[in-house]
Amino acid sequence: MEMHTPFLLWATLFTGVISSGPVPRKLFGEIRSPNYPKPYPNNNISSWDIIVPKGYVVKLTFRYFDLEPSETCFYDYVKIRADKKSLGRYCGQLGSTTGNHPGRKEFVSKGNRMHLSFHSDFSNEDNGVVVPYRGFLAYYKAVVVNCGSPAKLTNGIFSYVNKPANNTYQSVITYQCNEPYYHIVTRGGGDRYTCSSEGTWVDRDGQKRIPACLPVCGKPDNPVIGVQRIVGGKKAREGNFPWQALTEIHGRGGGALLSDRWILTAAHTIFPKGSARNNVSLDELAKDASIFLGHSDVEQIIRMGNHPVHRIFIHPDYNPNDEHNYNGDIALLELKYPVTLGPTVLPICLPDTSNTTFYMDGYMGYVSGFGVEKNFLSNNLKYVQLPAVSREKCQSWLDSKKRENPMVFSENMFCAGFLREKRDTCQGDSGSAFTVLDLESGRWVATGIVSWGIGCAQGYGFYTKILGYLDWIKGIIKEDTL
Ligand SMILES: *[C@@H]1O[C@H](CO)[C@@H](O)[C@H](O)[C@H]1NC(C)=O
Ligand SMILES: *[C@@H]1O[C@H](CO)[C@@H](O)[C@H](O)[C@H]1NC(C)=O
Ligand SMILES: *[C@@H]1O[C@H](CO)[C@@H](O)[C@H](O)[C@H]1NC(C)=O
Ligand SMILES: *[C@@H]1O[C@H](CO)[C@@H](O)[C@H](O)[C@H]1NC(C)=O
Repeated sequence: MEMHTPFLLWATLFTGVISSGPVPRKLFGEIRSPNYPKPYPNNNISSWDIIVPKGYVVKLTFRYFDLEPSETCFYDYVKIRADKKSLGRYCGQLGSTTGNHPGRKEFVSKGNRMHLSFHSDFSNEDNGVVVPYRGFLAYYKAVVVNCGSPAKLTNGIFSYVNKPANNTYQSVITYQCNEPYYHIVTRGGGDRYTCSSEGTWVDRDGQKRIPACLPVCGKPDNPVIGVQRIVGGKKAREGNFPWQALTEIHGRGGGALLSDRWILTAAHTIFPKGSARNNVSLDELAKDASIFLGHSDVEQIIRMGNHPVHRIFIHPDYNPNDEHNYNGDIALLELKYPVTLGPTVLPICLPDTSNTTFYMDGYMGYVSGFGVEKNFLSNNLKYVQLPAVSREKCQSWLDSKKRENPMVFSENMFCAGFLREKRDTCQGDSGSAFTVLDLESGRWVATGIVSWGIGCAQGYGFYTKILGYLDWIKGIIKEDTL
């Protein structure tokens, strides 16, 4: 048996491994069955390896094809293989019903090789009559690899490094995220992708997976400036608190955006204390809930449209029937669709585990909300600056109220505010975040959730201490974006 491998030599010349003398630039050729155009001999086995330069694929068609027809091409046949896969077994004559004639079919490899094998058996007889079959004539050509348009990156773009921009072999692109609202996370192989000889865009490590654009938290374009003094609050300017959500579940509430499709809020905005409607299912509540984001004017934010809720998660410690204990007053709303981040819609960061700095007595924070002001629901986002207060002061103030059924002040709460000044959060602010500016990282961090108080602007307000619920939050939001 003799192997025909002239094409291997030719390919070697082309790729320049042997580079003396003029290099043939023929990127095509033909393959003939033994003795073609005369009939092929019996008992012949021949095979051909077509190898074209890297970055090209092989495209092959038959110009002429005439082999002894048989059921499943059992006797005489041509087999084609590429990329460790069979591209079929062929025999027969144009128009014959037995066999498997290739017709005008184009055979295309994914890599730069194709293998053809020919086999004839001991006879070409049909009912004792010898029939001569002429075999085949095949043409092939090398076609430059095309990777197609690169995959689109959500919240980012790709751009071509090479000019002219094209999607062919060795073309290079880079991915970028829409900064500063998203940051890029690559798979370890960088943000540059090259069109490979396999026809796929791959990074430096040869990986196909494209990067991701993850939300940047706690970095508003337009933060509140300086020390400024909801009841007695200031009107927020656009983009001061881009994480602020307006919720309509049981009346007006607030929330804070985490990542790009989660709203952190208070459980009692979903199951108010002592409400008769608390047997409504979470699914029904999710369907009825309205969530608004992206503006500090109530009319405008509502006009911008509702963000439908997919699922609601309420902390298991929250008891809607105990009006004296707001422990576990925390909930998460998962939006059906992620929001596109920008100057007026941006998530807030969560605190670091086990760092209690932000809860120290006197540490200043901000609470924003669309809540009640002078007995009316506010038309604007308002904010107040309030200091966190030590547990001892909070507790003794509560004790001084001498109520018959004292409110529980659990470890999962903190209080903030002033005793004498009329600055506090109120109804409608429930669920909004208590935020602090972390001077070290320059990021805004949510440390609390507006939970409960005794009247409005009368002494301290009480907040869910987010630090105590980080594991619960992260257990539900299983994203690496917090
Ligand atoms: C097949 O035919 C070719 C061309 O006639 C010949 O060179 C080759 O030796 C044959 N191979 C076998 C196995 O008979
Ligand atoms: C594609 O771009 C590469 C490099 O920029 C260039 O060499 C090649 O000729 C281009 N191919 C086509 C088909 O334009
Ligand atoms: C919920 O409770 C109210 C009264 O407590 C009752 O009338 C209503 O049928 C209940 N709804 C459901 C869905 O169980
Ligand atoms: C806690 O956070 C504050 C503010 O970022 C920082 O100054 C302090 O070093 C942190 N403490 C620890 C123990 O990480």
